[in-house]
Parts: sequence; C-alpha cells; structure tokens
Amino acid sequence: MQPPDLTSLPPPDAASAAHSRKVANYLREKIAAAGGCISFASYMHEALYASGLGYYSAGATKFGAAGDFTTAPEISKLFGYVLARQCAPVLAEVRNLHGAASLLEVGAGSGKLAADLLTRLETLGALPDSYQVLEVSADLRERQQAFLRNAAPGLADRVQWLDRLPAEFAGVVVANEVLDAMPVERFVRRGEQLSQWCVADSDGIFTGVEREAPAVLAAAVAGIEDDLGARLPDGYTSEVNLAAPAWVTELAGALQTGMLFLFDYGTSRREYYAPDRSDGWLRCHFRQHAHSEPLILPGIQDITAWVDFSAVAAAAVDAGLDIAGYVTQAHFLVNGGLADELRQFTEMPAQAQVQLSTQVKQLTLPGEMGENFKCLGLSRNLACGLDSLETMDRTFTL
Ligand SMILES: C[S@@+](CC[C@H](N)C(=O)[O-])C[C@H]1O[C@@H](n2cnc3c(N)ncnc32)[C@H](O)[C@@H]1O
Repeated sequence: MQPPDLTSLPPPDAASAAHSRKVANYLREKIAAAGGCISFASYMHEALYASGLGYYSAGATKFGAAGDFTTAPEISKLFGYVLARQCAPVLAEVRNLHGAASLLEVGAGSGKLAADLLTRLETLGALPDSYQVLEVSADLRERQQAFLRNAAPGLADRVQWLDRLPAEFAGVVVANEVLDAMPVERFVRRGEQLSQWCVADSDGIFTGVEREAPAVLAAAVAGIEDDLGARLPDGYTSEVNLAAPAWVTELAGALQTGMLFLFDYGTSRREYYAPDRSDGWLRCHFRQHAHSEPLILPGIQDITAWVDFSAVAAAAVDAGLDIAGYVTQAHFLVNGGLADELRQFTEMPAQAQVQLSTQVKQLTLPGEMGENFKCLGLSRNLACGLDSLETMDRTFTL
C-alpha cells in the first residue's frame, strides 16, 4: 500500500493514545499466537470489535462532529424523515398481509436514525408494531438506549434490542453504513498466484506481509475475475467482503414479506475492480480526517471498505429476493420526498433554514454523499412500488 500523507492527522489525546497502546498489545498477542501474522480481516475485526477494546466496542464518541466521522442520520433528520416516508407504504402492505409489521434496524450507531424514523413514522400515522435493533456492540447498545430515552421519550419504549436475527420477520430492514464496517479480506494478485495480505508485528510496528491465499479467498477472487472476464493485473491489490453475502442470505432467509434498505458507499463490481483502482477501497477515519492507513491508531480510528454492491445483490437474488432498485443517495432522497419534507420547515428562523440547506447539500451533492453513497432496495412479496428506488434505477450496472 502506498503510505498516505498522515501529517495532517491530529495527535490523539493522552487517554486515546493509552487505549490504542492497549489495543496494539492485544493485537500483538494475537499475531504472536497465530505464528507471526493474522489476516487483514482478523486485524480489522479485532481493531473494531474486540470486546471492551475495539473501536466500536469501547466507549469513545465516534459519530458526529465530536467524533471521527459523520453518517447521513447524524448530518440531518431529513435522511430519516425521507426514509420514513418510504417505509410507510411497505409497513402498510405488510400489515395487511400479516396483521403486523416490524421495523428492524441493523447497526444503529448512536440511535439517531431510530429516533428520526420513529418520530416521523408517528406523525405519518405509520408506526411499526415493533422497532427492533440488532447491534453487535454492547457499548453502542447502551448509548442507543440512553439517546432514545432522551430524544424520543414517548417512543423509546417501543424499541427492543435483539441478540440475534429473528427466525422470521415481516416488515422493513434498514442498515445504514453497516456493510462497510464489516471486516474485509485484502488480497494481492501475483501473476498466477494469489496472496492474502496479512498483518505482522515488525519491532512494534504493524506491517503488511503476504502469504498464499486460503482456498475461500482464492475462490472469491476467481469469481470476481470470471465476472470481469480477465485476470486482475500483476500487483493488483484490493479487498473482498467474504461476510457480506452470508449476512444478506441470512437476512433474506428471515424476511417473509417486506423490504431491505441497504445504504452505503459502494459501487458495482466492474467499477470496484477496475484496472485503475489497483490499491483497493479501504478508508479510515480519525477525528474527521479520512485516510487509507488501517495499521495505525488501532482501536481509536474507524476502518471501513467500500461495498461491492454487485456481490450483495447477487447473494440476495440467489436467496430469492427481488431487486427493488439501486440508486444514489441523492436520487433516493430527492425522489423519495425530500422537497415535501423540507416544506415542513419553511416557518423556521432564517439561520435554521440555512443550516438545513447545508445539510441537504451534504446529503445530496455529488462531491459530498450524494453519489458515492447508494441505496440498494431488496424486497420479497411486495406489490407497492417506491419512487425513491424506481426513478433513476441503476440496477443495470450491477
Ligand atoms: C459505521 S456505523 C453506522 C451506524 C449508524 N447506522 C449510522 O448510520 O450512524 C456501523 C454500525 O454497524 C454496527 N455493526 C457492524 N457490523 C454489524 C453486524 N454484523 N450486525 C449488527 N451491527 C453491526 C456497528 O457496531 C455500528 O453500530
């Protein structure tokens, strides 16, 4: 990997630096126990989710201006409000068929999206019969509970936290920036050989080393090359999310009737593995600075990878779901009723209006989140169509 310019990163405060040293020691023990190196997916998993240590499992503020990065719900309630408008007809149709309809949010972050969705669904007269949250981080689960008690006190009691996916589910599933937070494998094409990019400890510094790719990774990359119709160039380095297809298959298996809304930064397979994208799609966040060096600041920076939406869509179709649409976040919001939502706020003081229009720009402009972020809508047994997914649908690119 090319060393990124890290000189602009702010130094961590003393407490964060101490925490990161603890996480680094823990990772070193894992590397030593594994005989000298661990896969990048294992490194990313431990750095993000190791119990009580990982970025998502320990207590720092991650989301919003005071944290490391800002997601769409953290930028504006308009994101959740438009999404609520899109959930409403689905929930109504599911309720007609099954007598009840639920909303399941996977990876609920700070709890902000849950608060906005519930608030707007209530005013639309479309509250789900239950609002369930599936969250891997025990720390975030507590934060979500506290946030909702404060932000939506009349609605917080409706929310239930699940330990696992329900066996059967009818309604809407929402996952914003969850796929990008899943550990990915990193690989390097070396002529006929395929290497797995691993992490070793070199005198106290984490470094990338290569070893022969295990069969499961080699098979995944062979599938990518089959789709592309060519072998990736020598030295080509990229990522593959081996967990995502299984995750979607599991969700699809539970979904009797309804819709999955998956939002994330990502693209089609052809663009993901384009020849000029020869260093992959990793992106790390520390104190609102984005860079591509995952081996520094373990436990105190976010590590993410863009999503290969073709892989997600293919797994969903194999599991019997329909692709309801694949659109940019800008098109989802604009065609999903953003202008109507904005109309509620025309009486607000001028300064608040300016803030709102800044938020709209952040959510929709191509240079901000408008184009890199996509929504993939996956449905089962639904008759209702959604303008947000059907207008400017790019499913043909997948
Ligand atoms: C980047 S954050 C996004 C949070 C929130 N959705 C938002 O938009 O602000 C990723 C979230 O997904 C959770 N997460 C990651 N993998 C998960 C999984 N397999 N199941 C449930 N939650 C997961 C993380 O703990 C975290 O809450």
